[in-house]
Amino acid sequence: MAGGGQRTVLVTGCSSGIGLQIAVQLAQDPNRRYCVIATMRDLKKKEKLEEAAGNSLNDTLVVKRLDVCSDESVAECLNSIPNCRVDVLVNNAGIGQIGPIESISMDDMRKVFETNFFGAVRMIKAVLPDMKRRRAGHIVVISSVMGLQGVIFNDVYAASKFAMEGFCESLAVQLLQFNIFVSMVEPGPVNTEFEMKLMEEVSRSEFPGTDVDTIRYFKEVYLPASHEIFVTMGQSPNTVAKATVKVINMAQPNFRCQTNVLYTPLIALKYADEKGNLSVRTFYNLLFNFGTLFHFSMNLLKCITCNCFRRRVNPA
Ligand SMILES: NC(=O)c1ccc[n+]([C@@H]2O[C@H](COP(=O)([O-])OP(=O)(O)OC[C@H]3O[C@@H](n4cnc5c(N)ncnc54)[C@H](OP(=O)(O)O)[C@@H]3O)[C@@H](O)[C@H]2O)c1
Repeated sequence: MAGGGQRTVLVTGCSSGIGLQIAVQLAQDPNRRYCVIATMRDLKKKEKLEEAAGNSLNDTLVVKRLDVCSDESVAECLNSIPNCRVDVLVNNAGIGQIGPIESISMDDMRKVFETNFFGAVRMIKAVLPDMKRRRAGHIVVISSVMGLQGVIFNDVYAASKFAMEGFCESLAVQLLQFNIFVSMVEPGPVNTEFEMKLMEEVSRSEFPGTDVDTIRYFKEVYLPASHEIFVTMGQSPNTVAKATVKVINMAQPNFRCQTNVLYTPLIALKYADEKGNLSVRTFYNLLFNFGTLFHFSMNLLKCITCNCFRRRVNPA
């Protein structure tokens, strides 16, 4: 595996979605700059990754088991890497959770933090001593715009990403002293299995302990709006992976990388009003009072971002 000049990149959560794409894109780098340790918690799911990796499999990409929620699993994986050396860590593994908080058990809420926050922290703690010793390294976190802006009915998921943002913002300053960079990749909606898994969970829930109005808002206002946002603004995992690879390739990597320009104005609302009312009330009004304006904005975005205009300018 890692030959002269190659950087070892460990990616978590490569069984599907963004992690799979990042691992494959790095492994297929035309200049063979990366040796990729593509990890997943359940090796029974490795087929999709192996197929996508093609010729790079067992050349510039190896698949290993790693559950970010287990100390033993992390240690076992790192000990199997020559000199336990990781040059770039990509913390991608994550789970979602949606629904009224009354209906979600404390244990289920903790699971989100165990994976999205403590899982990533566990990985960082495991690679940091060696990176510090070598005075080199790059820690990449697949965060989310929900780490910057809370979203209705995503309370705990957003909190886990906010926690990660705060943790990394603090760490980034300390680590520059050791020539170690931290980068937060902040996608908006991405069309992966993530949303599907959430919808499956929601379809099974009867929302115990939740009042009828909240259930109605969740089902009749939030779910259709969320679906519309994914259809209109959703990026492909491939696009998010490309943005991530670009950050990894930087000599002086940026701290933040928002991958979806359509989402940037929504984040800007938060910083435009230090009292915080602008974003809270804008989101509230768009969802509950001006549903028509919300649909109109989404349709406008669909028009602006579709290929119609380009086709008209450049007829085939
Ligand atoms: N999709 C979106 O709209 C979106 C938007 C912004 C940010 N993100 C973030 O992007 C990252 C990747 O999500 P995705 O969209 O690519 O979804 P995905 O296809 O569901 O991928 C999530 C990956 O994380 C893995 N994972 C979950 N728990 C794990 C654990 N304990 N140890 C190791 N791996 C674990 C999953 O493995 P299994 O197959 O075993 O479950 C899967 O490989 C997540 O951190 C997510 O929060 C997603």
